[in-house]
Amino acid sequence: MSEEIKKTQVSERKKRIFSAIQPSGTITLGNYLGALRNWVKLQDDYDCIFAVADLHAITVRQEPKVFKQNILEAYALLLACGIDTDKSMFFIQSHVHTHAELAWLLNCYTQFGELSRMTQFKDKSQKHADNVNAGLFTYPSLMAADILLYQADLVPVGEDQRQHLELSRNIAERFNGIYGKTFTVPDAYIGTVGARVMSLQNPIKKMSKSDENVNAWVAVLDKPETIMKKFKRAVTDSDAKVCVGEGKDGINNLIGIMSAVTGKTSDEIAEEFDGKGYGDFKTAVGEAVIEELRPIQERFEKYVKDKAYLEEQYRKGAEFALKISQRTLDKAMKKIGYLPK
Ligand code: TYM
Repeated sequence: MSEEIKKTQVSERKKRIFSAIQPSGTITLGNYLGALRNWVKLQDDYDCIFAVADLHAITVRQEPKVFKQNILEAYALLLACGIDTDKSMFFIQSHVHTHAELAWLLNCYTQFGELSRMTQFKDKSQKHADNVNAGLFTYPSLMAADILLYQADLVPVGEDQRQHLELSRNIAERFNGIYGKTFTVPDAYIGTVGARVMSLQNPIKKMSKSDENVNAWVAVLDKPETIMKKFKRAVTDSDAKVCVGEGKDGINNLIGIMSAVTGKTSDEIAEEFDGKGYGDFKTAVGEAVIEELRPIQERFEKYVKDKAYLEEQYRKGAEFALKISQRTLDKAMKKIGYLPK
């Protein structure tokens, strides 16, 4: 191959993307607008690798039968959202042993102080005070391993993962600083709309399925009537004017959701609802979300029944993922000084 062609191929190498989601049992509108929807869009322009992060999920206690079903359903739901296994590599984290192995190595290059500063650790350890396990604490080094194993350039996530991403960068830079270039230092890719979908009941908190109030979140698989009910109950203010503004967190959030779903700007939305009440607006947001999710729900019903297809896809994904990630793991181990097998 001529130098010329080689150079072109190198410069044309698509940037690589890695991202993952926990199989929590309820994938929310926040997950969808903040992350999944962007993953689907990025598939044509990037070399994409996605995973169901089931190793992360046991930092909180899981009931085995339910957990197993949640992992499969998360895989099926992501396919239904539009992850295309002909374009992207898509696997289940626990099927690829290199993740746990690199996570251990990276734990030894991550400082206690760094992990202590993670706001998600502080929040979760308060919420699960009876089970503040070491995994909950070291969770960000597993996340760093997920990303660094694939030499990812970009990581599409919602705003709440920014701090973990920053830590992954620090770990990569530290390791590279000691041993020479081993890992690509990844950048966060955070969308301009939908990056932080807030609770419908307390709009200064992010939408999270762990919220005890079920009206605070909308699940991608909620029935249309449930979605509408939740939007109608959304907390707003007494201003009664549909526009972005200070002290209007509930309305700001609904406008953000409407904007993410329809592609309209907040000004366009304010103009459209000028003179109309909050009731009309909430119904319109509910309808837009229902229509956005309807085809996903239909595809999900089809995928989730086809266990053989799902198995074929996640096996194929894991096989590819192992090949790529093993190369990085071997490289890192060699640099540290381990004897080759
Ligand atoms: P997880 O499973 O909590 O969330 C998956 C994705 O959804 C985004 N997200 C939101 N975006 C906007 N508004 C919200 N209310 C909202 N809630 C969640 C998250 O930012 C995330 O992008 N640790 C990760 C999973 C993970 C990972 C990784 C991500 C494991 N390894 C490597 C990236 C790279 C997590 O628990 O996400």
